[in-house]
Amino acid sequence: MLAGLNAPHKSIPTWLLYDARGMELFEAICQTDEYYLTRTELSILRENIQEMADLIGPETLLIEYGSGTGQKTQLLLDHLKEPVAYIPIEISREALRQATKELCERYPTLPVLPVCADYTSHYELPELPFEPARRAVFFPGSTIGNFEPEEAKNFMSHIAEAVGKGGSVLVGVDLHKDAETLEKAYDDAAGITAEFELNALEHINREFDANFRRDRFEYRSFYNRELQRIEMYLVSRERQNVRVDRTEIEFAEGEHILTEYSQKFTIEGFRSFAAEAGFSVGRVWLDDRSLFSVQYLERA
Ligand code: AVJ
Repeated sequence: MLAGLNAPHKSIPTWLLYDARGMELFEAICQTDEYYLTRTELSILRENIQEMADLIGPETLLIEYGSGTGQKTQLLLDHLKEPVAYIPIEISREALRQATKELCERYPTLPVLPVCADYTSHYELPELPFEPARRAVFFPGSTIGNFEPEEAKNFMSHIAEAVGKGGSVLVGVDLHKDAETLEKAYDDAAGITAEFELNALEHINREFDANFRRDRFEYRSFYNRELQRIEMYLVSRERQNVRVDRTEIEFAEGEHILTEYSQKFTIEGFRSFAAEAGFSVGRVWLDDRSLFSVQYLERA
């Protein structure tokens, strides 16, 4: 439907989707029948968590990017042997505060060192008073799919640096599949995904003193088979001007704003992607329908 359109002129950074309302709506997306990702990943984690924790090894410093509510984290921390510290990096201050509080109650002896930051831009990890035996990154949710290919590679290389020699990554990776399943997952019948994407406009209004009217935009998405990614857009319903930070921005009727990509991988494709960033794939876990994968990567 959108496949014939030209590359978008306008796009927004992903973090604008995740204000408090956006976090709430994303949680609601995860509950829809169509969005199989969260549910499937959780079942893979639940079934294999001990093996995953054993591969990561004892006395690990665990770092998590986009830790959110911390549900999956608890699963992992429950099975890790003597983790030395946990560093959650999360842009939503409220989610980070809440998750940190819960973790401190649940693991009173584990140092939790939260970092409130957009991990796609500059941030600094807290210094530890000792050198951990090893470092591991937990990166579930197929969030790696949100990056453009070049950025994704840079980010993985950055992770390789963060974990250092002997370090590892446990990453959730959504898999390429039939377009219908994918397109439904990103445009649920109840319209929660549309609500989530349109909510970004309200966030922009607050953040940048803008005057977007969400009823003048429409959510549309499709699976780009060639590039193996879901592309999500907000399409202008009419010709209009929007003020952002005292600048007038013109939208033509039908002009679209790119809100997100969600890259899908084949097992083979992810293996070569990881290799380019300096990782070898040590183990891949799948659900019984091969919808989703959790992968253990080691620094080559
Ligand atoms: C949080 C990036 C994994 O791409 O599946 C879901 C975001 N956007 N529905 C995804 C999202 C619309 C989600 N990630």
